Amino acid sequence: MAADRRASVAAGCRQVDAAPPITMAAMIPTPAIPAAQLRLSVAPMMDWTDSHCRVFHRTLAPHARLYTEMVHANAVIHGDRARLLAMDPVEHPVALQLGGSEPALLAQAARIGAERGFDEINLNCGCPSDRVQAGRFGACLMREPALVAASVAAMVEACDVPVTVKCRLGVDDDHRFEVFLAFVDEVAAAGCRMFVVHARNAWLKGLSPRENREVPPLRYDWAYRLKQERPALQVIVNGGIATPDEATAHLQHTDGAMLGRAAYHEPYVLHRLDTAWFGGELSSRAELLRSLRPYVESQLERGVFLKHITRHMLGLFHGERGGRAFRQILSEGAHKPGADWSLIEQALAVTESFAARDAA
Ligand SMILES: Cc1cc2nc3c(=O)[nH]c(=O)nc-3n(C[C@H](O)[C@H](O)[C@H](O)COP(=O)(O)O)c2cc1C
Repeated sequence: MAADRRASVAAGCRQVDAAPPITMAAMIPTPAIPAAQLRLSVAPMMDWTDSHCRVFHRTLAPHARLYTEMVHANAVIHGDRARLLAMDPVEHPVALQLGGSEPALLAQAARIGAERGFDEINLNCGCPSDRVQAGRFGACLMREPALVAASVAAMVEACDVPVTVKCRLGVDDDHRFEVFLAFVDEVAAAGCRMFVVHARNAWLKGLSPRENREVPPLRYDWAYRLKQERPALQVIVNGGIATPDEATAHLQHTDGAMLGRAAYHEPYVLHRLDTAWFGGELSSRAELLRSLRPYVESQLERGVFLKHITRHMLGLFHGERGGRAFRQILSEGAHKPGADWSLIEQALAVTESFAARDAA
């Protein structure tokens, strides 16, 4: 399928001496992602970044790149695709994140994902959970660059959309930049041009996934150095980015900033960033939410429960007067039978009454 792209590896993607022989398939560089689409992205987050969440984030940030939750390649191939790969056309550009470590299965899953319209296929090399380690994928793949390279090569061959990797800096107490660079070089030589770097190590023993997002120290300078030493690669920095100013500072050194928890818990930050970086008028939280009414009502008509949509919106008024009441009204009312758009109006009315009182 990708034979027309069969060519030398993208400039800057060196083959490492220690790498196993790279097949012809591995020499096909994956298509590049337009730079403007890389600046702002929302991290893949299991149980959180489902299609409803991504539609909400798209409303806030028209230029952001969105990521699905991780889906295992086997699930893509054998599972309930309508549910696992649900995607609304407004989500573009949106990437499907895959988990797995068997090149043939990953290739098949990548092909399916691309055929269903995902704009990018991203391979998870950063998840540290026990379950994932037991399946020999996620962060432990950072110890197996040859296997990641073979997987990427197979995925690149199988589909025509960009194949990218999300990784850590390393695992456990290995803090050698040259090991990290060798991993990236070997995977880049297999055709990957874009790396999302969660800028901390993963500790594979003794920390929960949650602690693994907080305890290992952040080292943004490694992501910056990667971009400096391999300027032909696209490098996105991720991890602990909490404010628009922090995100903006990262753009001085990398191609983009990916926000996870901050985007989820305080989604209005996405709107601030999108308007600051790409232009456009800042809309109010209420305006943005009301623009989603047709989507919400069409989902309700299809039998979706309101709570499955509103659970992603609870932080919209984070830090604002009335924000707590907004959250409470939605979380207490959205699971009730028959809950509909009027509940959202009720929650908005509380925030508006605070605003009116403040203005008086
Ligand atoms: C609830 C939750 C689920 C996550 N699931 C995934 C996942 O499926 N794939 C992945 O690559 N990272 C996952 N992550 C990690 C995030 O993508 C991100 O790398 C991490 O949270 C650090 O970024 P942040 O500090 O901006 O949140 C998850 C994070 C959270 C909080």
